This record gives sequence, structure tokens and C-alpha cells, in this order.
Amino acid sequence: MALKVIFRTILPSCFKANASASEPKKSQVSNSSQRISLSDLSNPGSPLSVNDLSNSVIGSNLHVFTLSELKVITQNFSSSNYLGEGGFGPVHKGFIDDTTRPGLEAQPVAVKLLDLDGSQGHKEWLTEVIFLGQLRHPHLVKLIGYCCEDEHRLLVYKYMARGSLENQLFRRYSNSLPWSTRVKIAVGAAKGLAFLHGEEKQVIYRDFKASNILLDSDYTAKLSDFGLAKDGPEGDKTHVTTRVMGTQGYAAPEYIMTGHLTAMSDVYSFGVVLLELLTGRRAMDKNRPSREQSLVEWARPLLKDPQKVDRLMDPRLEGQYSMKGAKKAAALAYQCLSHNLQSRPTMSNVVEILELLVDLTDIPVGPFVYIVPNGCEKGKRNKDKENEKESNKNENGKQCKENEAEKKEDGHRRRQKGLRHRYQLRSRAVYSDTALYRTLKNPSQGGINWKNY
Ligand SMILES: Nc1ncnc2c1ncn2[C@@H]1O[C@H](COP(=O)(O)OP(=O)(O)OP(=O)(O)O)[C@@H](O)[C@H]1O
Ligand SMILES: [Mg+2]
Repeated sequence: MALKVIFRTILPSCFKANASASEPKKSQVSNSSQRISLSDLSNPGSPLSVNDLSNSVIGSNLHVFTLSELKVITQNFSSSNYLGEGGFGPVHKGFIDDTTRPGLEAQPVAVKLLDLDGSQGHKEWLTEVIFLGQLRHPHLVKLIGYCCEDEHRLLVYKYMARGSLENQLFRRYSNSLPWSTRVKIAVGAAKGLAFLHGEEKQVIYRDFKASNILLDSDYTAKLSDFGLAKDGPEGDKTHVTTRVMGTQGYAAPEYIMTGHLTAMSDVYSFGVVLLELLTGRRAMDKNRPSREQSLVEWARPLLKDPQKVDRLMDPRLEGQYSMKGAKKAAALAYQCLSHNLQSRPTMSNVVEILELLVDLTDIPVGPFVYIVPNGCEKGKRNKDKENEKESNKNENGKQCKENEAEKKEDGHRRRQKGLRHRYQLRSRAVYSDTALYRTLKNPSQGGINWKNY
């Protein structure tokens, strides 16, 4: 009943926003059972148009921006503000304050622009607005607003200073993420998923992967990209049947084979990301020898045996991790990746287990560094200053070279990603992941003996 009242307040068309109409109003959502879902909006019996959300419960949490406002905010989507690009389209940094809209907190934002020639469209945009317009949690990225003008579709998010986990973990020229940061990220991302699964009206995220985990300045993990999210099964149903969509290397084998989606598919994908954090390897890496291209295939035998866990670990950690923690995390990943759904833990179990890792202190101390004491003679001080300048110059030069190299690598990856995306999206429906199919035919997974860890 409550839903119907809310539905009638939705206006029938997409419109050009004006400042007064776009003020977010106090949320009318009191509990998650009232959450509007995509199916509610596409229900032919509903008097709603999906196009205009501004006066709905969703609009009450979000600002509606005009395209020209977003052009100003991003300096006309200038290349200097470019942050990256995925299947939806390019993302640019911008800055909003109360000159943009009275009452708006001054802050940097990330503006995602739908690529009109791309394979995603209104549906993904709308799904994102519907979910993130209603769900709020410290481990979900905050959607600040959107723009829906003619055929243009944009999304405005809180800016995440450290970009995506994918960028942080796999970038060749930056410092490696320390163990404690990896654990923090794993816990945060797990909490985000646990929140979605624990909602009264369960949400299945369906696209859990390193590029969709964004990192705040203090490495707080936030899930982004709800374009593929789905409401979980209702009543006595055990699963939702859908077209198979997602990203190769992360999607659960049973979902790929049957199209049966459950929250346990997200748990599998979480296991893949946990493995990426442990190993520093990508879920799928065509540049590796064929036996090692699928991370799960390569790692599974090592995960199973606590004595082999050190062989898994990212060499960039240089041994500086808690061995106890690594073994527990490996065992947890093994469980998450089980072919038997019943053997996978729930996301709230995962959070409990990972939180135990935070306080483990059996981390070897780093290499000993001797710091030359400062001299006190004037001449030496001057010499030291000169040396310092020289070394700063070298350091800056090195940093510049590294930045240049990173930019080049990013450009290369972006081009590859563009291709990968087009491939992935064209073949999104029931793509075949032969490696996973093979292992599914041989489901030798059992429960895990935690005593060994
Ligand atoms: N809120 C944000 N703050 C900072 N950077 C962001 C934000 N949102 C996205 N980005 C940057 O933009 C890049 C592209 O993001 P996007 O989610 O569109 O694509 P993707 O996750 O890389 O690919 P996919 O389409 O498969 O999800 C991210 O890798 C990230 O670096
Ligand atoms: Mg993404």
C-alpha cells in the first residue's frame, strides 16, 4: 500500500532540471521493504513512467543536474579531469559547491557519462539510480545525483581519492599495497556485500570485482556500479533466473551454467577478489602461461594446503604479511570458491572471519634502513642541502618518469579495456568460461578443516 502512495508521486517524463525542483527532500524511505525496484517501475500495471524519478522517493535522496551544470563542473569533460572509463562510459572529476546548487556541500565529485555509442544504456543507468538512490551505507559509494536530459544519461558520485582497487593493486609503477591495507579493503568490501545481502529485500550485486571497489583517501572500500544489481529471490524461491551477465573470471560457475542467481554468486566473486588481494594477480590474465591464466584454477590446489599458502602470496609484499592471517584468508577464499553452494559462507560469516585478521601482529619487520645523521658544520650543511636538492631532483625526475609510465600503462589498459568491454558486453549473455565448466564437472570440494589454519 505504502508503495502505491509513493508511486503516484512520480511524474511522467524526463525533464530539464531546475534548481528548485532538484533539491533533495528528506528521505521518505522508512524501511527497506518499501524499496522501489526496477521491476516495480517496469510493471505494465504501474501508472509510472521510468523516466522521471525526481519527485519519487529516489529523487528525494538525489540532486538532479542539468547537462550544462555538469559541463561547468567538469570543465567541459576536459581530458585533464579524466579518471577512467568502463562499460558505461567515461568518468571525469569535477567540483561542486553551493554556487552549483544552494546548500550543496563543497566537494569533489566523479561524473560518469553514458557513452551513447556503447553497449550499456538507459536500463543500466536507471538500475544504478534506483538502487543507489535508496541504499545508503558506509561501504557503498554515495550517489549524489544524476542527469537525464534528452538521450543523455549521467551519474554524479562522491569522488573517491584513491580510485579503484584494480588501479591500486595491479598498477606496476606504484608502491605495493601493504598487508594491513589489503585486510582493511577486504573487510570493508565484505561489509558492503553483507549489507546488501542482509537487506529486508535482499540485493544481489552481481558484478563484484576489483574495478568496482572504490577507495577513499584512507582506503575505506566502497562498492560502486549497481548497473547489474538484482533483487534477491522472494518468498519460498531459492534463486532468481536471469540472463548470465557479469565479468569473466569473477562470475560463479553455477550461475554461468544455469542462469540461477543467488547471493552465493556474490560470495564466489568475493572469493576471487580475496585471491587477487592475496596474490596480486588478476582474476583473468591472458598474458600468463595458459595454466595460470585463470587465477582460481591456478590457486585452488595451493589454497587447499596451508603449507603451500606462501607460494600464493604476492611477491610485492616482500614477505611482510601475517602468516596466520594469510592462511586464514586463503582458507576463507577456498570456502567462498567452493562449487557446492552450501559450503560457501554467508557474507556476514566472511566479515566475522576477516575481522579476526585485523589485529594479527605476526608480521615480519621490514628491512633495516640506516639513516645518515645530519652533520653540524656549516659547510657540511650546505653540502647536505645541495645533495638534498640533487636527490629531490632525482626523486622528482623518478616520480615524473613513474607517473609518465603509469599514464602510458593506463592508456594502454584503457584501450584494452575498451576492447575487452565490447567483447564482454557483446557476449554477456551466456558466455562460456571453459575453465570453470571443467572444474564444475569435477566438484571435489568439501568443507574446510579450520584446525589446519
Ligand atoms: N566515484 C569515483 N571516484 C573516483 N574515481 C572513480 C569513481 N567512479 C569511477 N571512478 C574511476 O573511473 C574508472 C571507471 O569506472 P567504471 O565503474 O565506469 O568502470 P570499470 O569499473 O573500470 O569497468 P566496468 O564497466 O566493468 O565496471 C574507475 O576505474 C575509477 O578509476
Ligand atoms: Mg565499475
